[in-house]
Amino acid sequence: MNKALRKAVIAGNWKMNNTPDTTKATIEAMKPLVADADCDVVLCVPYIDIPAALEATAGSNIKIGAENCHWAVSGAFTGEVSAEMLKAIGVPYVIIGHSERRQYFGETDETVNKRVRAALDAGLIVILCVGEVKEERLQGVTSEVVRKQTKVALGGVSEAELDNIILAYEPVWAIGTGLTATPEQAQEVCADIRALVGELYNKAAADKFVIQYGGSMNAANAAELLDKEDVDGGLIGGASLKAQDFSVIVKAASR
Ligand code: PGA
Repeated sequence: MNKALRKAVIAGNWKMNNTPDTTKATIEAMKPLVADADCDVVLCVPYIDIPAALEATAGSNIKIGAENCHWAVSGAFTGEVSAEMLKAIGVPYVIIGHSERRQYFGETDETVNKRVRAALDAGLIVILCVGEVKEERLQGVTSEVVRKQTKVALGGVSEAELDNIILAYEPVWAIGTGLTATPEQAQEVCADIRALVGELYNKAAADKFVIQYGGSMNAANAAELLDKEDVDGGLIGGASLKAQDFSVIVKAASR
């Protein structure tokens, strides 16, 4: 079982939710509930909440991530934050290419690739998001779409650098909609992405590459999704805002 080669990663994506105060309260409630997790636990939070989150998680098994970063080290990019800045304040993880960034903020496969490059250069661990929209699934082009997004995003990434990339397969139609992909649908696409990594690099690289599912994963459906051979974790939006729900998902991933 190649699944045994990979440590599961459960990552929360808070999106534009919480203030420093509610960040602290949520993390304090979460810490004891996930303390014995046998998987990696990450919370990606708004930039403004990062200092509070780092302070609240110090000495715990919860790691903190940002939700995006710019590709330049510094410069005239009003409103942006660089990977170097995240690194400088001790943030280990960053989400890149989330579908909300692609949909609402004009991110393309090419800018996603530039951000991935910058994050890796800064020494961050990237949670790289890909996924098809509903029309693409209905047209039967999910594999083409997800393969292209993945291939372009990984352009210029070496095999060794794959150790610092977690890929999150997030069907856009399942994000925040309560419409979860079935475990079979999640498995099919995660296996397809792993096959692509095998084609782009080699089988050994593919076997240890961590691939998450994301899109309305919750306390009730996490176990059956995480049970699938090629699903190595989850990227959790709504359910990561609630300590109890998030901890149930972490427990489901602990094996
Ligand atoms: P959701 O979000 O769990 O609320 O669907 C997932 C995500 O956007 O990463």
